[in-house]
Amino acid sequence: MNRDPENSFKWGVSTAAYQIEGAHDIDGKGPSIWDTFANKKRKIHRNQNGNIACDHYNRYQEDIDLIRDLNIPNYRFSISWSRIFPEGVGPINMKGIHYYHRLIDYCLKNGIEPWITLYHWDLPDALEKKGGWTNRDILIWFEEFVSFCIKTFGDKVKHWMVLNEPLVFTGAGYFLGVHAPGKKGLSNFLAASHHAALCQAHGGRIIKSIKSDLKVGTTFSYSPIEPFNPENSKDLKATKKANALVNRLFIEPLLGLGYPVNDFKILTRIEKFVKANDEKDLKFEMDFIGLQNYTRELVKYSPFVPILNLKVVKASKRKVEKTLMNWEVHPPSIYQSLMELGKYSGVSEIIITENGAAFSDSFSNGKIKDEKRVIYLKEYIEQVLKAKNDGVNVGGYFVWTLLDNFEWAEGYHPTFGLVNVDFESQKRTIKDSGYWYSEFIRNHARKE
Ligand code: NOJ
Repeated sequence: MNRDPENSFKWGVSTAAYQIEGAHDIDGKGPSIWDTFANKKRKIHRNQNGNIACDHYNRYQEDIDLIRDLNIPNYRFSISWSRIFPEGVGPINMKGIHYYHRLIDYCLKNGIEPWITLYHWDLPDALEKKGGWTNRDILIWFEEFVSFCIKTFGDKVKHWMVLNEPLVFTGAGYFLGVHAPGKKGLSNFLAASHHAALCQAHGGRIIKSIKSDLKVGTTFSYSPIEPFNPENSKDLKATKKANALVNRLFIEPLLGLGYPVNDFKILTRIEKFVKANDEKDLKFEMDFIGLQNYTRELVKYSPFVPILNLKVVKASKRKVEKTLMNWEVHPPSIYQSLMELGKYSGVSEIIITENGAAFSDSFSNGKIKDEKRVIYLKEYIEQVLKAKNDGVNVGGYFVWTLLDNFEWAEGYHPTFGLVNVDFESQKRTIKDSGYWYSEFIRNHARKE
């Protein structure tokens, strides 16, 4: 039985398959681009990988018990595409399907509403061998995967998100080469971006055509961009360019506004990959937009950075409070993100599908008193509720993340979890922030 009434504010917690599941090659799972990338030398901090991670594949019951005990009514997780289709398309892996059935059923049995992200960066490696996101056939491959998931799990799971942060997986994975699959260059990036933008809309259409009563969204990274020196016209121009790239590239085509080429001319080169009818196919009306905010960015003109001609001035250079990711702690950023996204007329509802902080934690008398994380969450949530009060239709907030886990190229070093994981013994310990969030939800629900 679900404890969360339909119209209540959705409090939740988020994870992603590759970051927690482990079991990278068991029960018939095929390799994903992250399995391949992370197992290469010098790609990941300390050459770590997600082969075992939090072993959530085997320990999901214990982890769902934690969510239940913490009184968190909504759980967002992702499906590993290659656990279901080991080769990306074609033969299916029954053991993988059974695993997700068990996970979903266990959530439902414990009164936890499952929210599923279809693509959280772990493309089947077999598809990357055919060009991955740079190959337009991804539209066909993705359709097979999405249709299958909806037909298989759509009777049990109501909330679906098509893509997770397309700018990050195309930017880090196909432009900078610092995430899987490690490709570089503008052409790879623009091809991957256009196909991802098409897939985000296409995925939405597929879901609705199979089950029109499902709630469909997709998620975006969003960071307010400010000029390093507001008096400097070059910094101001760089800020506009960065905003077009970082915040507008994927949402605007989805809303039917096209790519933001006017503020960043180089983006016109995406037209090379655009075919007749694409403009209309990029558009889709989502039930909700997932907003993922952690910080703001200060941007500066720089003639030395090729293509972009701008750079981000890191928090470490600005004498501000920062997290282990070197991201500035700046709670008004989430308010501003909500205000900016909320202004688009095509955005009906926003859910904060991720927000949280990596700080170093230590045990004292068996406990983790992660005061900084508690303050971070408290202050960011206050800003979310302020935006709600000020008229933004924000319907939910999910903490990133349940467990300390594999933070992509950064490995296991940045710990974001409400729950500590000892990766030797796989022992879980709830941090003070976990208890705080639990209590906060309880009090908030009482007031609603
Ligand atoms: C963005 C991603 O969706 C998630 O996978 C990542 O761990 C967090 N934000 C923190 O960087």
